[in-house]
Amino acid sequence: MRVLELYSGIGGVAAALGKTAEIAAAVDQSQPALSVYRHNFPSHPTVEKRVDCLDRDWLRRRHADLWWASPPCQPFTVRGQRRGLDDPRADTFKALLRHLENVRPRSFAMENVEGFRDSDGHDLLRRTLDHAGYSQVREHLLCPSDLGVANRRPRFYLVASRGELQSEFDVSCPHPRLPEILEAQPDPSLWLDATIVRRYHQALHVVDEDDSYAVTSCFTSAYGRSHVRSGSYLRTRDGGLRRFSPIEILRLLGFPTEFTLPQELRRSNAWRLVGNSLSLTPVRRVLSSIGPELSFRRSAS
Ligand SMILES: C[S@@+](CC[C@H](N)C(=O)[O-])C[C@H]1O[C@@H](n2cnc3c(N)ncnc32)[C@H](O)[C@@H]1O
Repeated sequence: MRVLELYSGIGGVAAALGKTAEIAAAVDQSQPALSVYRHNFPSHPTVEKRVDCLDRDWLRRRHADLWWASPPCQPFTVRGQRRGLDDPRADTFKALLRHLENVRPRSFAMENVEGFRDSDGHDLLRRTLDHAGYSQVREHLLCPSDLGVANRRPRFYLVASRGELQSEFDVSCPHPRLPEILEAQPDPSLWLDATIVRRYHQALHVVDEDDSYAVTSCFTSAYGRSHVRSGSYLRTRDGGLRRFSPIEILRLLGFPTEFTLPQELRRSNAWRLVGNSLSLTPVRRVLSSIGPELSFRRSAS
């Protein structure tokens, strides 16, 4: 199966698929995101470009069976102004739908924030899929914590096919518990200053480092910049509070240990990129309905 990764970021879909699919191309406008992508998937073709500017013939020539898209979510975020398609940041989504209607790959899948489901973007997507002959469409609101993962990240997922969709497959496998994803020697600068702890301690979501049942909150791209509602903090055995490192967050999202970050990437950028990425377990589950070609269906059985 050939997969076109649109808004690929650091490569959450490539990491979820592993060797089960061939990446036809990964497209993103962000150089820092693609530098992490290329660091981990040097053999995948990458294109640093706006999705809106992709050419119809170029898209056809990728011969992709599946397009995966993770378009920007700001227009549909409940905490934002929620202007939907009127938000200029949704222009790329409208362009994506025009591409989809023109090229019509066999399958299409996407991820966005939960608020997308009740948006005008969702209405336009469903009309486009109908018009382009995607007779099978399935939607999910999934949170990895419901699938046994020690992290919350509720998201909307859609998968559509011009052929048949299969029943989803339970791709559950043993997920690491919190103590297992922690770095042995975390950077000392991850610890919070006592004044910050005093000022915000009521508002911080805290988990204990020995707690095997702990579920961390959703890490956003603001983690490291904003103290509250951007992700959890870790209480260490000595009673101190620290941030999670970008690598620890990647592990909570289900990225394999082989996935690493370039040494030259600044931690603030790493938090931003990782906070924009995907939780791999729900992605695998959603994609398991595409067909038996994606062999993680079989390997999970
Ligand atoms: C929600 S993130 C998706 C991240 C990705 N799923 C991952 O695993 O890292 C959205 C991505 O879209 C990219 N982006 C935003 N607008 C874009 C556009 N017009 N064309 C291409 N990429 C865009 C951003 O750089 C960002 O990497």
